[in-house]
Amino acid sequence: MELFKTYKLWPIEPVKGSGCHVWDKEGTQYLDFYGGHAVISIGHCHPTYVEMMQQQLTKLGFYSNAVENSLQVELAARLGEQCGYPSHSLFLCNSGAEANENAFKAASFHTGRKKILAIGKAFHGRTSGAVAATDNPTIQSAFNKTPNVTFTPLNDIEALKSNLATGEYAALIMEGIQGVAGIFEPSAAFWKAARQACDATGTLLIADEIQSGYGRSGRFFAHQYAGVEADIISVAKGMGNGFPIGAILISDKIEARYGMLGTTFGGNHLACTAALAVLKVMKEERLVDNAAAVGQYLMDGLKGNKAIKELRGKGLMIGIELNEDWLDLRDRLLFEKHIFTGGAGKNVIRLLPPLMISRKDADAFLEAFNTLTL
Ligand SMILES: Cc1ncc(COP(=O)(O)O)c(C=O)c1O
Repeated sequence: MELFKTYKLWPIEPVKGSGCHVWDKEGTQYLDFYGGHAVISIGHCHPTYVEMMQQQLTKLGFYSNAVENSLQVELAARLGEQCGYPSHSLFLCNSGAEANENAFKAASFHTGRKKILAIGKAFHGRTSGAVAATDNPTIQSAFNKTPNVTFTPLNDIEALKSNLATGEYAALIMEGIQGVAGIFEPSAAFWKAARQACDATGTLLIADEIQSGYGRSGRFFAHQYAGVEADIISVAKGMGNGFPIGAILISDKIEARYGMLGTTFGGNHLACTAALAVLKVMKEERLVDNAAAVGQYLMDGLKGNKAIKELRGKGLMIGIELNEDWLDLRDRLLFEKHIFTGGAGKNVIRLLPPLMISRKDADAFLEAFNTLTL
């Protein structure tokens, strides 16, 4: 059997990792400013993470959600305290798309409504409901296209208000910072208007923090810069540092009912251990503050470079929009300087490194970037 060819692959196979570096089979070292697509939060093979996972594997790897699991209870308490949402409750699943599916279901159960308002250029995942709320028709099959989703432009407050005023939406979903679109931030005024209009119309506000959350923006959640609270927050990616886990944080105004949400693998013992190790390391190593500080340092070091049309983002979620002549820069960073970065479309380089990078790692990136663009 061959692999179904749905990914365009780089001709490199990382086989070993440590911190913000990976190595291929030949022993070549790469600086990882992509983090496996914003997934590696505390760094590759962090010793605390490895130790906790190894220990848990020798005790119990899995049991189902039909029985008590104190690791889930501990995770909910720790996450609530660290992220600033102690009175939300936690539902655990396996991925980002699945988190958003459950967010839509919870919102629909709560409001009795069936429509979702999403933001233009949004990306929320590839499963049925998540892809319907993703503003990219090329990845929606006929089965996924639905009149239950409407898109409204980012940062257009009047359009947002008039859409919500119809009172027909179960929820508005917004990324903390739009990632796949190329790093675009909702303004604080847009978040505030969204919160007010949702309250006025009985609509729930869902913050998709799957890419921008877990400290990446320099705050635990990017929407916290705007001083607003969301009713449901979806998370995944950095939550497990590579072990698949996703979740929604749910406001106490949404009532739980037995059987309303469920999953076989979600919240299993290994996944919870991975998430607990991530939170422990994030706290001990102050990684949210580090993301803010080193992110600003990187931004400052990139400013004024002639290859750059626009710099966007916060913390360690940085979008470098390139001038026309420099569209091959991402490939050159990889093949000439051995640095992984993310992309968005043809002209944006996305920096999504592990949150533990130091100024020295940032200097290594800046030196390579500036040398290539001399
Ligand atoms: C903002 C956002 N939401 C949802 C998803 C989907 O997550 P997953 O690939 O884990 O299903 C992604 C993935 O890139 C994302 O960036």
